[in-house]
Amino acid sequence: MPQKSKLIVDSLQAHYITKQGIIKAVDNVSFEIIGNESFGIAGETASGKSTLGLALLRSLQPPGKILGGEIILNGQDISKISDEQFDKTIRWKRIAMVFQGAMNTLDPVYTIGSQMNEIIKEHRINPKQESLISNSLRQVGLDPSIAARYPHELSGGMKQRVVIAMALLLDPEIIIADEPTTALDVLVQAQIIELLKTLRREKGLTVILITHDLNLILEFADKIGIMYAGQLVEFGSSRDIYNCPKHPYTQALIASIPRLHSVNKDLQFISGSPPNMLEPPAGCKFISRCPFAKELCQKDPPQVMTENGFVRCWLYK
Ligand SMILES: Nc1ncnc2c1ncn2[C@@H]1O[C@H](COP(=O)(O)OP(=O)(O)OP(=O)(O)O)[C@@H](O)[C@H]1O
Ligand SMILES: [Mg+2]
Repeated sequence: MPQKSKLIVDSLQAHYITKQGIIKAVDNVSFEIIGNESFGIAGETASGKSTLGLALLRSLQPPGKILGGEIILNGQDISKISDEQFDKTIRWKRIAMVFQGAMNTLDPVYTIGSQMNEIIKEHRINPKQESLISNSLRQVGLDPSIAARYPHELSGGMKQRVVIAMALLLDPEIIIADEPTTALDVLVQAQIIELLKTLRREKGLTVILITHDLNLILEFADKIGIMYAGQLVEFGSSRDIYNCPKHPYTQALIASIPRLHSVNKDLQFISGSPPNMLEPPAGCKFISRCPFAKELCQKDPPQVMTENGFVRCWLYK
């Protein structure tokens, strides 16, 4: 029996329309998640990872704007429904997000419980709030008594668990976690990743993990998307991308991962820097850093299908 697609994103466009010009932070991005596969989005800073997450949740703030594309969730085109309907039926209820840096923006003057309560009140969910809050806290491995504590009384790891618990409050199917481990030490980082894995296994939650740390994603995700200058330049299974990266940018990223047992201990770094997003080059955005660049690359590269995904590069056409 064919597996049901959970989330199909087709040609999504999300831009920032600034006084200086238009920044195509999400430029024609497409991918598909099947069942409760975990999906990892990796890429350098400013490549558009957070904008993609925010666009999926329709939570972009001005000057950010969604300009096109389709988002199909379990067969329903949620890009076509009204903002009011999206608010009522999708945001937090079916797709939730742990925003980048959220653990640092917990309000210092309110207890964890009252901050969680606000989310419940906003969605006018009926009573039994206490048990909703307790359940969410338990799901992330925290004792419900944490609800009475203030953010400053908690460690970084506990705060990160709290913001994950907040995202789980309304029992979503998909959770987007944007850099959930960045500010944490390695041990706590591993615990948070373990928690996300457990939530997926035990609740059947689909997790979209956004991070600049490719190592973390390779360890966590079934599918990976590599972003560069607003575009998804490669998409495929984690194993394929690790063993046989196709896009020259992905190849460089994989080559820059330190390997414990590698004979060649010389790490490779990618020379040059990403393009100015206000004036990106025509054609392939990686052209100025690519060792294989040729004249053809000045034209927009095609999205070439691979076994489990695609690569956006002229080398494969
Ligand atoms: N509010 C905004 N106004 C204008 N431009 C923005 C805004 N937010 C983001 N951008 C631009 O959009 C592009 C993508 O930014 P985004 O934050 O999505 O990248 P990112 O991959 O999440 O980066 P990081 O790894 O640093 O979190 C960047 O060029 C950024 O400068
Ligand atoms: Mg970001």
